[in-house]
Amino acid sequence: MSFKFMSAEEAASYINHGDVVGFSGFTPAGAAKAIPKAIAARAIAHHDEGMQFKIGVITGASTGDSLDGALARADAVSFRTPYQSNNDMRKLINSGKAEFFDMHLSQVASNIRYGFFGKINCAVIEACDVSENGEIVLTSSVGNSPTFCTVADKIFIELNKQHPKALRGMHDIYEPSDPPHRRAISVFSPNDRCGTETVRVNPAKIIGIVETDLPDEVGGFTPSDDITNRIGENVANFLAGELKADRIPHSFLPIQSGVGNIANAVLAALGANPHIPAFKMYTEVIQDAVIDLMKKNRVKFASSCSLTVSPAVLKDIYDNLDFFHPRLLLRPQEISNSPEVARRLGIISINTALEADVFGNVNSTQVLGSKMMNGIGGSGDFTRNAYISIFTCPSVAKDGRISTIVPMASHIDHSEHSVQVIITEYGVADLRKKSPSQRFDAIVNNCVHPDYRPILREYFTLGGTAHTPQSLHAAFGMHSQFLKTGDMRNVNWGEYA
Ligand code: COA
Repeated sequence: MSFKFMSAEEAASYINHGDVVGFSGFTPAGAAKAIPKAIAARAIAHHDEGMQFKIGVITGASTGDSLDGALARADAVSFRTPYQSNNDMRKLINSGKAEFFDMHLSQVASNIRYGFFGKINCAVIEACDVSENGEIVLTSSVGNSPTFCTVADKIFIELNKQHPKALRGMHDIYEPSDPPHRRAISVFSPNDRCGTETVRVNPAKIIGIVETDLPDEVGGFTPSDDITNRIGENVANFLAGELKADRIPHSFLPIQSGVGNIANAVLAALGANPHIPAFKMYTEVIQDAVIDLMKKNRVKFASSCSLTVSPAVLKDIYDNLDFFHPRLLLRPQEISNSPEVARRLGIISINTALEADVFGNVNSTQVLGSKMMNGIGGSGDFTRNAYISIFTCPSVAKDGRISTIVPMASHIDHSEHSVQVIITEYGVADLRKKSPSQRFDAIVNNCVHPDYRPILREYFTLGGTAHTPQSLHAAFGMHSQFLKTGDMRNVNWGEYA
């Protein structure tokens, strides 16, 4: 069978108002680019003629501007799941024009197979190679692409020249059977393979192939600064201390590290710490710092869902595949983020919080409790199942007008039961084996910005004697003060006494 090659516009013409489309992409890495842009143009043309055109958009995680940005600007999205980080998509969601389901990334594929999302009409998948018998070699991420291909009636492939065919073998594709037939996922070390090199589909489902030559739209990282460096050093020193105290095996444990500049700085600090041995990663995103540490033999192996690296670093990987191929493995997010595997491997999870409270609950998603930032992503998959779960954040936001540590988190993604360690540029709060009052002391004395320490200590007195000394009248006093005056430091607890 030979496939039909077509333009992105022709592929988009198969997608209609009301369809649900599964797009490849986990971060901008490996995200579909040409077809979503053409769908956005199709939506605009429909809207100009007074016709409705919106689709449901499911991806692996965030994507690039050609997908989330273009579709949001075209007002072409009825619902979006599971994670996004694009300004225009964020605005669309926070304006209520698109419904957003914020989900644990590991659960998306199984929920699709269980039928919780209804029919998935099309899969739009970026690939570097496809064979006549329906073997698809994915590019710089895997995301939910295997499941989209399993469940969708129609598959469109963006065959992108930017990614070499020699990537074959860097992916490990495995879709578990669904209950009651599910078996154990046989990953016992980050480098174990349990699946196939390619996504295998019935070739008759491939309706068209669109040839492209488009780079991943991964932005560069802001260089680390004093705050992120201090956070990184605090994480590294904490883990070195755990090793010394024999609470972590001397061979060390696999690291999961979140996305963004803090995560990059944390990894650099782990790599630079002479007391931490070379380690493996079992994570969902590989950022620039991992590749740098791999070249220095400080990271021995990385299993991930995506290669979210800046363009120059991706070029370096592709130019040196002999070195990187045996050290990198890309898996579906159902496996890279699997709670079963995370718990078995004993991963050390390090994620970033927007806000934490003095008792150890963490908000990763909603600014001031109401505006969606990006989504929970994989932070819950890893935190709940980690050997040690760590959250990092700067002690303040908005030039000190917001304390990231507050009396009660304005939204809770990770509860006090899952959060074991909080780390800011000021220090480390080890919350293990501590009651709420003890957690309060650990967090306020070690992590809170000095401006806010007396404010939070005064708050504590309002709670009286209780297991969790919380004052329901005053719990959001700092948040309301920020909304009223633009500065949490203006809070007057006397108003609540
Ligand atoms: N209240 C209000 N605003 C806050 C805030 C708070 N407590 N904390 C931070 N902000 C603001 C910052 O000022 C900044 O605003 P700006 O965009 O106007 O400059 C914005 O929120 C982002 O903060 P920043 O510190 O730059 O965030 P980040 O890039 O380090 O990302 C998360 C932090 C939490 C948004 C991000 O890590 C995330 O989406 N996490 C959830 C997903 C996840 O953890 N995945 C896990 C594995 S990859």
